[in-house]
Amino acid sequence: MNLRIGKVRNSLILTVVLVINILCLMTITIQSMAAWRPGRAARTTTPINGDQDNNYHHHKHHRGEFRSTSASFAIAGKPSTSSLNLRLNPAVLKKVDSMHQVLNLSRFADDTVYPAKRIGRYLMVYQNLCADVDHVHLIMIVHTAPKNLHRRQRIRDTFGKRSLFYPFNVRVAFLLGKTENSTLERVLWMEHARYNDTVMGDFLDDYHNLTLKGVMGYRWVNQFCPNSELVLKIDDDVFINTYKLLYSFINHMRGKPKSIFCNLWHKGTMPILRQGKWKVDTRLFSKMSTFPYDYCSGFVVLLSSDLMGPMHQAAMTTPFFWIDDVYLFGMLPSVVGGVTYYNYALNKNVALNDKKTINCTVEQGARCPIFGSIIADHNYWRYWDMVSSLYVSGDWKVENKLIE
Ligand SMILES: *[C@@H]1O[C@H](CO)[C@@H](O)[C@H](O)[C@H]1NC(C)=O
Ligand SMILES: *[C@@H]1O[C@H](CO)[C@@H](O)[C@H](O)[C@H]1NC(C)=O
Ligand SMILES: *[C@@H]1O[C@H](CO)[C@@H](O)[C@H](O)[C@H]1NC(C)=O
Ligand SMILES: *[C@@H]1O[C@H](CO)[C@@H](O)[C@H](O)[C@H]1NC(C)=O
Ligand SMILES: *[C@@H]1O[C@H](CO)[C@@H](O)[C@H](O)[C@H]1NC(C)=O
Repeated sequence: MNLRIGKVRNSLILTVVLVINILCLMTITIQSMAAWRPGRAARTTTPINGDQDNNYHHHKHHRGEFRSTSASFAIAGKPSTSSLNLRLNPAVLKKVDSMHQVLNLSRFADDTVYPAKRIGRYLMVYQNLCADVDHVHLIMIVHTAPKNLHRRQRIRDTFGKRSLFYPFNVRVAFLLGKTENSTLERVLWMEHARYNDTVMGDFLDDYHNLTLKGVMGYRWVNQFCPNSELVLKIDDDVFINTYKLLYSFINHMRGKPKSIFCNLWHKGTMPILRQGKWKVDTRLFSKMSTFPYDYCSGFVVLLSSDLMGPMHQAAMTTPFFWIDDVYLFGMLPSVVGGVTYYNYALNKNVALNDKKTINCTVEQGARCPIFGSIIADHNYWRYWDMVSSLYVSGDWKVENKLIE
């Protein structure tokens, strides 16, 4: 009797455990299926507006006034925890080979063409920027030109200011190259001593070195901010609505491994320019009129931090190409493999045009879905006042949730 009851009880318990397991599995599956609303989460399937207007804005921005560079240095990095065995994997070798071909380089070309190997020592770096907390929710990596002191300062005072976003931990690092202006260099050292948030690489800050700057960023996060969850790469002429990002969008981004959230250019849609400041030598991608990789417009790009090690490692094998957006957000992810892109449509979540952004905020307040935008210097403070006053009201969190 007792034995039987025991058996019945045991099988009941077993059944319950099984059912719970199945329910858990179903929930996980449903959650991952439902994680993205179609508009925002187009993965790579929806053709995006590779139209004239967008191309124009994209290139216009690329031609814009900001200049940056990359760094190099010889501080021995911590060995990356995620070893990719990039050199051994045949699929990766094939990809890298085809990149060598379109870039018209010999497979046995000098190793220094690999950006991660060109990067030497940091000229300026503070090792503890992320070390005072266990978890950094968002590390902002700002590509900035040495002379843009005022842009760095306004970011420190506004959307990059730690104390405004507790309980979220936000950190900002500014990535610079060297300057030949010795007066400016002295000012930069003072800035570094004062804020400890500038990272300077051993390369000239020039738009042809932007790829080096970006790879330095991947390396830096991997080394000095490994406790970060999301990495936001922006240019210094961008305004981020950090409130919106943290209290709304981050819910969609968390827990998605190897993911990139950006305004996406699908492969075969973005023309390769053959003249102007951003002209690509005709020997590179020689028979192509569009870039053969998916990649992001680089002004606002969010990446899951698990990509930092693999991306840096991939830059040791992936041949150099100087247009940073293509290299950092197209070629490297392609070599890393298994990366998921989430498309943030232009003028919906990110904008190249501050008129659209300001208008959207005027009309929709905290519900305006644009969280990242290029902004003209003369509109910056007016827009910051608008955003920050919206979000101190106390009900904005509730209102924000309505967007979902
Ligand atoms: C060098 O930098 C200083 C400080 O930013 C600036 O005032 C000066 O115009 C610069 N000189 C040149 C030649 O660009
Ligand atoms: C910057 O870092 C140095 C150590 O490298 C430290 O002595 C100094 O107090 C830091 N300054 C600030 C403002 O955090
Ligand atoms: C950076 O850019 C300058 C100017 O285009 C170039 O001469 C230099 O070789 C580049 N690389 C480094 C590491 O400075
Ligand atoms: C590759 O570059 C060499 C010179 O470096 C040039 O002679 C050759 O035509 C180029 N190949 C293509 C396919 O453009
Ligand atoms: C701003 O919004 C209003 C109303 O929707 C519209 O009429 C106007 O054209 C918009 N301005 C810009 C610059 O988008």
